[in-house]
Amino acid sequence: MSIRTLDDLLAEGVSGRRVLVRADLNVPLDKQTGAITDDGRIRAVLPTLGALVEAGAKVVVCSHLGRPKGAPDPQFSLRPVAGRLGELLGARVHFATDTVGESARSTVADLADGQVALLENLRFNAGETSKDEAERGAFADQLAAFGDAYVDDAFGAVHRKHASVFDVPARLPHVAGRLVLREVEVLSKLTADPERPYVVVLGGSKVSDKLAVIEALLPTVDRLLIGGGMCFTFLKAQGLEVGTSLLEKDMVDTCRNLLERSGGKIMLPVDVVVADAFAPDAAHDTVRVDGIPSHRLGLDVGPETVAGFSAALSQAKTIFWNGPMGVFEMPAFAAGTRGIAEAITKADAFSVVGGGDSAAAVRALGLDESSFGHISTGGGASLEYLEGKTLPGIAALEN
Ligand code: 3PG
Ligand code: MG
Repeated sequence: MSIRTLDDLLAEGVSGRRVLVRADLNVPLDKQTGAITDDGRIRAVLPTLGALVEAGAKVVVCSHLGRPKGAPDPQFSLRPVAGRLGELLGARVHFATDTVGESARSTVADLADGQVALLENLRFNAGETSKDEAERGAFADQLAAFGDAYVDDAFGAVHRKHASVFDVPARLPHVAGRLVLREVEVLSKLTADPERPYVVVLGGSKVSDKLAVIEALLPTVDRLLIGGGMCFTFLKAQGLEVGTSLLEKDMVDTCRNLLERSGGKIMLPVDVVVADAFAPDAAHDTVRVDGIPSHRLGLDVGPETVAGFSAALSQAKTIFWNGPMGVFEMPAFAAGTRGIAEAITKADAFSVVGGGDSAAAVRALGLDESSFGHISTGGGASLEYLEGKTLPGIAALEN
């Protein structure tokens, strides 16, 4: 890879220089309290930020949070993230209440060597996500004015052609941070020459989100295990009734076609947990997939499915997992996700957990993160990498 790295930048010396770091601090927040419910993405950039602080750089961090519509929206403020980042770094993080305005300018100007600033949410500015090159470019000019060099450590956002990801590196000397490097190194192992058997587990709610990656993976993998909300569209494609479960009607034919072409590599659930309603306390039972009652909906895979998937995983030498098997946030429907996660940790395999939700599931279920080979910070980004797509953020670093 012809990408310069943080170590190259550190070797040049960064003491007293302003280094603009694009991070992905898009962490989940509690809907009621606004508290950060999983700080994994904040912890993931600490190696890069710590190295820059230690080297005496003036560190200017920028990130998006959620999907505000190009204007300030208090529920998406990065302020709580600044607080948590400061705790983890063990040093105050100077928070700018705008992204490229007066607060940002004075916060950056006042930074001493080895200090860290966090700018307010990039997506409070329409230029960040604009499809218009000139509008994005104008915003990128303003951002680039805060740095003498640029570090991309926002792996979770490298698949976005956004100003901070794609246009700023065209304006400043640029390098990949430690997290981006590690992510690319790990994912390239999966695409280049994975040790076999290579087993992929996919879950999550929508087939349409995963279609491209299923297409890309089918020729490469030995087994593809499908659970989560999207399994019901596949079950429907097999001619089964799925009650009121999640169903993407317009994807049924596509799923049937995938099943026909998969050469038996695709494994689907044989039993599921069905409930009366989408609620934590809903009455529920485990049924065979050919016995889903018409008025109930599937919210998890069943124990026999977990056993079958676990048997396949126990043979694997390489595993990639993206997407929960059920509604793991509700204890009654968490057993499938927990069972699969445990099977992955037990396998004598190199395992990669891809994605915000599955990574959050690992931590929410209290599983030991270190028993996985790698937990990616990127959901969409890791899937697009495996699809073989060009990632704008990586392409920008290569130039
Ligand atoms: C993510 O959560 O997947 C990344 O932070 C990217 O966010 P986005 O999907 O809103 O661009
Ligand atoms: Mg996402």
